[in-house]
Amino acid sequence: MKILVTGGAGYIGSHTCVELLNAGHQVVVIDNLYNSKEEALRRVQEIAGVTGSLHDPDSKLVFYQVDLLDRPALEAVFAAHNGSARAPIQAVIHFAALKAVGESVSKPLEYYHNNITGTIILCQVMAQNGVKDLVFSSSATVYGEDNQPPLVETMPTSATNPYGWSKVMMEQVFRDVCTADPAWNVILLRYFNPVGAHVSGRIGEDPKGVPQNLLPFVTQVAVGLRSQLHVFGNDYPTSDGTCLRDYIHVVDLALGHLKAIERLAARPGVTAYNLGSGVPHSVLEVIAAFERAAGVKIPYQIVARRPGDLPTSYADPSKANRELNWKVQKTLDDICVDAWRWQSQNPKGYVVLWSTNREGGE
Ligand code: NAD
Ligand code: WQD
Repeated sequence: MKILVTGGAGYIGSHTCVELLNAGHQVVVIDNLYNSKEEALRRVQEIAGVTGSLHDPDSKLVFYQVDLLDRPALEAVFAAHNGSARAPIQAVIHFAALKAVGESVSKPLEYYHNNITGTIILCQVMAQNGVKDLVFSSSATVYGEDNQPPLVETMPTSATNPYGWSKVMMEQVFRDVCTADPAWNVILLRYFNPVGAHVSGRIGEDPKGVPQNLLPFVTQVAVGLRSQLHVFGNDYPTSDGTCLRDYIHVVDLALGHLKAIERLAARPGVTAYNLGSGVPHSVLEVIAAFERAAGVKIPYQIVARRPGDLPTSYADPSKANRELNWKVQKTLDDICVDAWRWQSQNPKGYVVLWSTNREGGE
């Protein structure tokens, strides 16, 4: 099948491209490279053993540097595939979004415009081309702060910041689109805490600036880029006082997308699935697991709670286990081993010397 992957150069997108190619799919990536580099896609080609130019529309993996907000450019991508003798794009996996929770609070209009307007333009251009099957990157953040874990898909959704609200609103957009036109099928994948890297060590998470998430911060401390980790609070009502999260290996997550693409064939309408392990781990457990995996001590200091953090969040993944025939294969130890391999082999991420789309360069 030919699948359009928006945001395919990003962290989760690049890992998903590998698994799609491994399964024999053709992949068309669009990404504006705001938070990623083309180098990630060159490495995807390398891992999947795919040859040909990334810019040849007949390659197994083709890349267009396109912003979702640029409707004519998006229409041209569809025209190059669906309006030609080439095999048509049949389904879309939609990763492209801005995702920094803190930044979304200071730049709500940018987040709503990019994430929601971008999604609406995507849906309109898909509909013009008769493409109505989509897998959407949602998030555990849509469970808000009032539900009691384990979190189940039937629980009410809400959010505590503009990023989270953009996910809640996009889920609603998809529900309404599917109600208005039953030809649409949309799978909403609610990811818990994606972490880790491909086992090859060639692709992984490459955060811009200071990492906001736990694992990338830990790996940057381990490699000597930062002196110590701040643990945000040890007075939560949990076993060791630090927050509990459901960490999921990014390759398990990528494989969940493959299952979701298969599931679209059953014409499910709109439906949500949790992608998580169902097993919560504390911040201190993650540090200990990482120290075992890397053989490196992680200096840390307990500091005040981070505003907005919930004590505990983890999935009930039984719906995905049952209906997608999917469950996590990898453990927290695997996550740490793979995250460390990526960080130690690529201490500064995807360093590319010939060009950069990021202000200030590397
Ligand atoms: P990422 O930033 O690495 O990838 C997103 C990609 O989308 C980037 O390559 C970026 O350049 C691109 N992009 C953003 N806006 C775009 C636009 N308007 N047009 C074209 N490309 C655009 O992030 P990720 O961690 O891979 O996340 C992928 C998706 O998963 C996002 O929708 C995110 O909200 C969601 N998600 C991520 C997490 C997480 O912790 N990483 C958790 C839950 C959900
Ligand atoms: C995990 C734990 C922190 C950093 C976020 C988003 C969520 C989703 C996934 C997209 C917490 C603690 C962290 C540090 C620490 N993204 N921590 N020191 O907050 O569960 O989820 O990413 O949808 O929307 O909010 O993940 O990795 O930031 O934090 O002690 O330097 O690690 O307090 O307990 P979180 P995280």
